Amino acid sequence: MTADGDTKKQRAAAAALELVADADLIGVGTGSTVNLFIDALAQLPHRPRQAVSSSQASSARLAAAGIEVRDLNEVSDLGLYVDGADEATAARQLIKGGGGALTREKIIAAAARHFVCIVDDTKLVATLGRFPLPVEVIPMARTLVSRELAARGGRPLWRAGVVTDNGNHILDVHGLAIADPVALERELNQITGVVTVGLFAVRPADLLIVGTARGVETR
Ligand code: 5RP
Repeated sequence: MTADGDTKKQRAAAAALELVADADLIGVGTGSTVNLFIDALAQLPHRPRQAVSSSQASSARLAAAGIEVRDLNEVSDLGLYVDGADEATAARQLIKGGGGALTREKIIAAAARHFVCIVDDTKLVATLGRFPLPVEVIPMARTLVSRELAARGGRPLWRAGVVTDNGNHILDVHGLAIADPVALERELNQITGVVTVGLFAVRPADLLIVGTARGVETR
């Protein structure tokens, strides 16, 4: 990644930090942009004491920053969730899962009152689908689900060698025309063997913070 790309991610992460305010507990996603957010959190004099995390990688980084990682089941109210994305539209619909953490990310997004997505401007698209759509599947259903995805016009590629934190496999689906993200998310969710579709359209982000060469823009 270029220094410029790093700077844009850094700007989006820093802007999200301002939303943390005096929160004692926050939700934290996964990826290089979120890593910058965690590193910035660690510098806050009054950082949140606790977090729920979407991956083992983020949990380890949070713990290293002195932030206790809680089980979502023990949390009754999650005000803020901050996460990155692989693609985002102006309507704040997303493709996520490039880092393989899509299932836990979708669970935390569903639990959170406010879902803030932090991206650099290279992630902005008019129509989702340039980035291959990650789909987490139960391992024994991998070829079954692949056939179903191919029947819908996609070219699923197994992310070979990757096992998710949930013990599952990932198919990266190329060439899908995502004209209606909500409808496609619902349809793919119904394929037997699919655990999670990396479309975040039924529950989009509430706020999109975009790091640019000039500063940040919000949607
Ligand atoms: C992980 C994700 C990430 O949010 C997404 O891949 C973006 O990552 P990065 O900030 O490294 O570009 O969905 O499953």
